[in-house]
Amino acid sequence: MNISVLVSGGGTNLQAIIDRIRSGYLAGVHISLVIASNEKAYAIARAESEGIPVRVISLKDFPTRNEYDRQMLSALVGANTDLVVLAGFLSLLGSSVIQTFSNRIINIHPALIPSFCGPGMYGIRPHQAALERGVKVSGATVHFVNEHYDEGPIMLQKAIGVLPDDTPDTLQKRIMVECEQELLPHAIRLIADNRVQINGNIVTLLADSITAGKETI
Ligand code: GRF
Repeated sequence: MNISVLVSGGGTNLQAIIDRIRSGYLAGVHISLVIASNEKAYAIARAESEGIPVRVISLKDFPTRNEYDRQMLSALVGANTDLVVLAGFLSLLGSSVIQTFSNRIINIHPALIPSFCGPGMYGIRPHQAALERGVKVSGATVHFVNEHYDEGPIMLQKAIGVLPDDTPDTLQKRIMVECEQELLPHAIRLIADNRVQINGNIVTLLADSITAGKETI
């Protein structure tokens, strides 16, 4: 399975995928392209040191949104992408990409959707909001992507306890390591093994791979 990984920042989620491919856990999975939304993303250096092709496709560099979508779509199709993985990617994908890769785009969000998500809820903000609200558990969510921020069908979630002395930074770091870097490789593994079924907004994880002839993603 060819995956394209879309990034905007440090790339710790990308690194987790790279490490799991190396360890053999993601056998049969190949990162055919990394697309960064800006040239400053440290994730680019992680990809280059693995010899993974990198493209920088930044909305600000295009005269129109349509031109940006066209570039993004042609890059993904050109890389023979089977699955698009948003790993700390902060731009909203255009409808042509979402329709072409319908039910084949997943995103990791650092909170338990539907809590602390939506426009503007990225980076440290979900963790600040979680602490301000006084929740006792938080975590991360892997979901399929549709046209609205963080609203697609939920595939995987993992919760951890919020500690009395947690700050947004300490909570963010624990959720990255204990939740995100586990959930995203696991989600890719399940999809590569054909064990995911989507009916409307509900995702079902199957014990075994879906047999031939049935609806697959
Ligand atoms: C992660 O918490 C991710 O969920 C969020 O941005 C953070 C940075 O991710 N969207 P990464 O280190 O760039 O993978």
